[in-house]
Amino acid sequence: MRWKVFSGRHVCLASRFRAQSHCHGRSQHATFHGATSSTASSRNLCQFVHEMMTGATCVTHWQRIFEQKGISEPQHSSEHIISHVLGGKTIHSLAREALSRPLTAEQKQTIWNLCSQRLQHVPVQYVIEEWDFRDLTLKMKPPVFIPRPETEELVNLVLSEFTEEEDVLFSVEKTRWQNSQQAAPALFLEIGCGSGAIVLSLLHVFKQSCAVAVDKSPEAVDLTRQNAERLCVQHRLQELQLDVLSDSQKLTWICGSVDVIVSNPPYVFHEDMSGLMPEILRYEDHDALDGGADGLDVIKAILQLAPTVLKDHGKVFLEVDPRHPEMIQNWLQEHSSLRLTYRATHWDFCGKPRFCVLQRS
Ligand SMILES: C[S@@+](CC[C@H](N)C(=O)[O-])C[C@H]1O[C@@H](n2cnc3c(N)ncnc32)[C@H](O)[C@@H]1O
Repeated sequence: MRWKVFSGRHVCLASRFRAQSHCHGRSQHATFHGATSSTASSRNLCQFVHEMMTGATCVTHWQRIFEQKGISEPQHSSEHIISHVLGGKTIHSLAREALSRPLTAEQKQTIWNLCSQRLQHVPVQYVIEEWDFRDLTLKMKPPVFIPRPETEELVNLVLSEFTEEEDVLFSVEKTRWQNSQQAAPALFLEIGCGSGAIVLSLLHVFKQSCAVAVDKSPEAVDLTRQNAERLCVQHRLQELQLDVLSDSQKLTWICGSVDVIVSNPPYVFHEDMSGLMPEILRYEDHDALDGGADGLDVIKAILQLAPTVLKDHGKVFLEVDPRHPEMIQNWLQEHSSLRLTYRATHWDFCGKPRFCVLQRS
């Protein structure tokens, strides 16, 4: 398993969604004595709360329990929860003194409650109710999709594409993007906004830009709105609860024309869904992941919509399954009337063809 620090947090790079073998075949119910409200659990909670424990020993304590109970990423789960309770973003960001101080009964009670959730396989992002994406801290709430590290690369691509663009036709756009304080800032459309990670990152960089964020899930639209308010960009964002498969006309009408469409759509092939990690299958919205038989259901709808909402030379940035870049190019050849040109495939940090860039011709 490979680990990398993203936004100051360690994330598993083994695969985006693949199940980890030690999680297979485990009981659906945590058997840990503290995870339920039985008499035994109260006694154990009492013992835990009265035991002399520092932040550092508590991390080791819960890491061991997570290991014994087959919880994925045991060390990082324990570290994230305990650093969260101690007021740090990561265990390494806490002063040594904070980790060696005895925990209060209240802190131990909170740690117990949060770790008991993790023992039920609740993703740590839902347990601590927040997660970092690039330089933003976003509120997380089940079942809204938890942003993945590769999606930070999708945002980087949108940012860098405009500053590195060599095309003369785009030079005006380029200048405009580089000087984002100018009169006609770019307008973004994100399809499938989830927690708002992508669109809010763009609005955070391009201070004069506006965006439309669409999701079919009411929980996602609500969470994007809450995150926009936390970041004070709500006045530049319009959130819409729409289904791109059935509401494309409405979307065209509301959006007008945009410079960029960006999307990390559901793209898992339906037959691969059952192989996802239990954390994902139990707690995240399956509609955020399942892209249909060939993973392309929503992607095709976005490509069909693109020519009607994009300005001339406007671009589409997509995160996809590694099998998709070739499939999308073939599909576009069969749909040449769409006036979309396939521009580039970009690889993710695992070396997988993960991002597609298309342009309205
Ligand atoms: C993989 S998640 C991405 C969320 C967020 N953009 C991110 O990267 O963290 C896909 C999102 O697309 C939304 N979605 C799925 N099907 C959709 C559809 N037909 N129309 C609009 N949104 C859809 C899901 O609700 C989910 O929030």
